[in-house]
Amino acid sequence: MCGIVGILGREPVAMRLVESLKRLEYRGYDSAGVAVLEHGRLKRVRAAGKLRNLVERLAREELTSTIGIGHTRWATHGGPSEANAHPHIAGRVAIVHNGIIENFSELRDELRRRGVEPESDTDTEIVAHLINLELTEGGTPKEAVLNVLERLHGAFAFAIIFEGEENLMIGARRGSPLAVGHGEGEMMLGSDAIALAPFTSRITYLEDGDVVFLTREGFEILDEERRHVIRPIQFTQAASLLVDKGGYRHFMAKEIHEQPDVIGHTMAEYLDFAEGRVRIPDMPVDLAALDRLTITACGTAFYAGLVGKYWLEQLARLPVEVDIASEFRYREAPLSEGGLSLVISQSGETADTLAALRYCKSMGQKVVAVVNVPESTIARESDVILRTMAGPEIGVASTKAFTCQLVVLAAFAIAVARARGAISAERETELVRAMQQLPRLVVKTLEHENQVAEVAQELARAQDILYLGRGINFPLALEGALKFKEISYIHAEGYAAGELKHGPIALIDEHMPVVVIAPRDRLFDKTVSNMEEVRARGARIVLITDEEGASEHGAKAFETITVPAAEPFISPMLYAIPVQLLAYHAAVFLGTDVDQPRNLAKSVTVE
Ligand code: F6R
Repeated sequence: MCGIVGILGREPVAMRLVESLKRLEYRGYDSAGVAVLEHGRLKRVRAAGKLRNLVERLAREELTSTIGIGHTRWATHGGPSEANAHPHIAGRVAIVHNGIIENFSELRDELRRRGVEPESDTDTEIVAHLINLELTEGGTPKEAVLNVLERLHGAFAFAIIFEGEENLMIGARRGSPLAVGHGEGEMMLGSDAIALAPFTSRITYLEDGDVVFLTREGFEILDEERRHVIRPIQFTQAASLLVDKGGYRHFMAKEIHEQPDVIGHTMAEYLDFAEGRVRIPDMPVDLAALDRLTITACGTAFYAGLVGKYWLEQLARLPVEVDIASEFRYREAPLSEGGLSLVISQSGETADTLAALRYCKSMGQKVVAVVNVPESTIARESDVILRTMAGPEIGVASTKAFTCQLVVLAAFAIAVARARGAISAERETELVRAMQQLPRLVVKTLEHENQVAEVAQELARAQDILYLGRGINFPLALEGALKFKEISYIHAEGYAAGELKHGPIALIDEHMPVVVIAPRDRLFDKTVSNMEEVRARGARIVLITDEEGASEHGAKAFETITVPAAEPFISPMLYAIPVQLLAYHAAVFLGTDVDQPRNLAKSVTVE
């Protein structure tokens, strides 16, 4: 994971690096640091913890250098201490790194044999030493970097500067993303375009295996085979992406409340309300002839994929397998050539999802990506992008990206169903009309926030919480539990309601709250029976249902949260809202770091 930035500029860079790092904190916040060439000498300032700790330290320094690199870290090798914070320095070399060097212990042993003892536990410092050794043996910075890159296994993006080289910065990528920014008489490197947005909107995306040599006057790229290549300069809109809390206490709250809007924007991409039709981009395969679809993703995006499976199987009669990307990538699943795979990712940079995508392509499949960041690696490597219009999601716990993923998957399922003749044009129009109600219904659901906040305070006193759902609401139970545990640090588990009596019911006693997600649909009575089973064993029930469900069975629950009645097809987008609010308000009550929960990062670019 981690975010990296480098600026080869005309004005002092230290605070400009910080400005970029603020935009990269979503990639990790275990420590941060910068290194600059101050009067020709390498000078480094680092701090464990959040970026604000680095800012405090920098306030005590007077740095005037116009060349520097910066880093915000999500710890992989070595704990989140200052000693392990980047940049790492060895002799004349300072380096920042995003990724994992897999053969690091072998290389470290070699260094020790050569009399070099690393100061930190990181894989990155090893790379700095190897490059420095090449320099001491007479190599130029370019030669040194190229030689060392040959020896590295794993994933990386680097930005490197050298003592004695005021007009040179070297970048390299394999696996992890890296972009070059073009300013007026200055050049930059960044993990993404958003990091460079304060300074430029002209970006060159490096391809896997590329190495780039920057000077203030220009740049030169060598590809994987070390041939000179020209990569295009693109204009990005990243600069216009406003990243503020808009008056909310946390990004997560803002993002939860943005859902009526962003769901509307996403629907506008895929639904033709005037005609009552779905319109998706042309697909690279014949949807009518498909015999199955593979969906891969991680975390919340995986749960969106599980909801998509219910829609695609029920509506389009298309068999769907949904897999966790980290499992799928090594499972050697047989996939038919010419078939279709779908990957889902908010960031578009999740390492396991990207690897799954590449595996599918290697098997001759076409890949459709449901992705929120159109400039991301996953977007660029897919055959077709189905973009979610959620806008930048900053809170580490995914909320609006999830509901927008659901909107896209619902539209996709309707399109596939029509292409396969599984639904009539009239049914398509009915479903589109139902989806059209979503922004209004989400607003109505959000109106119950105060009540949900009170229930959340009750849940925040528990040690463990069970979430139950059936059918299409089962993935929501999983998502509700994930959201709760990641920001409140309270153990929560999602279960298929019918599976309870096969084991987990043994956990139930009066201390275990059970959140039951049960709209009044065709499975409602079955879920209510499961609810009775846990109630009989003393569990306190929080029932999330619609008015009809509440009037029939609300009395059995300790608390009932009502969601507006809706066509069952769209219920997942609505029931996502109370589970997000429950997690959010429990975390606020407990005083945890809601937007940046411990041990997590927004974009998981390592496997
Ligand atoms: C949970 C959460 C994560 C992400 C997962 C995939 O709230 O945000 O589980 O959903 O890391 O990330 P993307 O969608 O960026 O591939």
